[in-house]
Amino acid sequence: MPDRIYLSSPDVGPVEEQAVLEALRSGWVAPLGPQVDAFEAEMAERIGVPYAVALSSGTAALHLALLGIGVGPGDVVVTSTMTFAATANAITYTGAEPFFVDVDIETGNISPELLEEALTQLMRAGERVKAVVPVDLLGKAADYTALEPIIDRFGLPMICDAAEALGATHAGRPAGSFGRAAILSFNGNKIMTTSGGGMLLTRDEALASKVRYLATQARQPVVWYEHCDVGYNYRMSNLLAALGRAQLSRLDEMISRRRDLRELYKRFFAQEDNKVYRVVRVFGATGDEADNAWLTSILVNPVEAGWSTEELRQELDARGVESRPLWKPMHLQPVFSRARGLIDGASQKLFKIGLTLPSGSALNTKQRNQIMESLTTILSGFQ
Ligand SMILES: Cc1ncc(COP(=O)(O)O)c(C=O)c1O
Repeated sequence: MPDRIYLSSPDVGPVEEQAVLEALRSGWVAPLGPQVDAFEAEMAERIGVPYAVALSSGTAALHLALLGIGVGPGDVVVTSTMTFAATANAITYTGAEPFFVDVDIETGNISPELLEEALTQLMRAGERVKAVVPVDLLGKAADYTALEPIIDRFGLPMICDAAEALGATHAGRPAGSFGRAAILSFNGNKIMTTSGGGMLLTRDEALASKVRYLATQARQPVVWYEHCDVGYNYRMSNLLAALGRAQLSRLDEMISRRRDLRELYKRFFAQEDNKVYRVVRVFGATGDEADNAWLTSILVNPVEAGWSTEELRQELDARGVESRPLWKPMHLQPVFSRARGLIDGASQKLFKIGLTLPSGSALNTKQRNQIMESLTTILSGFQ
């Protein structure tokens, strides 16, 4: 059997190899260095914000963004239930309580209507709501046109979890440029990677400095080690920033390969000559030019189809092709079972009928063919 095909493997080659080698040879191996400064400057320019802080992960970036705006024990932070656990974990690290809001079924992003209702209820009850954290799911930016005025009306800061959305836009503006601050992830499965890493982006100079300070053990600017606050060791290393710069130089090419793959899936599932394909829909595939196509998922109506995404996942797995359900909503996670929220069932439905297919930019033609051939064989067997 050919090598296993994964959902989203790192796409690295000679450009990255050279960049990391040069950084190593430059002698800047101790954590910070010129590659970190340059990576921050290049990313800030790409997103169109003045400040960027390179950190050890997207989770660390979220944690410090929340601490930086003063979120702490006893506060409530409202976020989307359809996300990776990191969003809710970072809120929990601060001692605040995550409050989960359900999503728009078309995009999987936080529902502006439900958010408004949730904020109205929470404020009326006198709760200490400190921030809203929308998530740009699978590379599609949340509906900031609708969200901004609602969140502004309640006088709350918005911290955007753009971990999955580098390269996406909303209303012509880059994901990562919205809100008081936004965060990116450069984890190994993301659209570009530093093997592990993240970044905070903001227009707020004071917030950027506070995050920088907290990320370096809250060290005071004196020659001995002096600390007035509890800090964190959350900065990105110079070697990884070199990898990040090499990846950033290839970002557009990598996005375009992911978009091509999404087009391939769309064409495949649009085939009219086979009824199987008509019960499958590519998730969130409208307005694709604004989407970085990080991951492509399909939605399958199991009643019309007569088969489920889990059956398809198992068959793909047997052929060496990885696929995975969408994020299991946070309000259904045992760890957050006591958390409060405003839930209408949309995320649960998406979780039940959604399946993410291999979407990486490193997939070659042979691997793409293997995926399509596997799908053809499996789906014709389901008829
Ligand atoms: C929506 C979301 N938020 C946060 C994160 C956390 O990023 P990291 O893995 O870099 O900590 C991720 C990805 O891992 C994510 O998908």
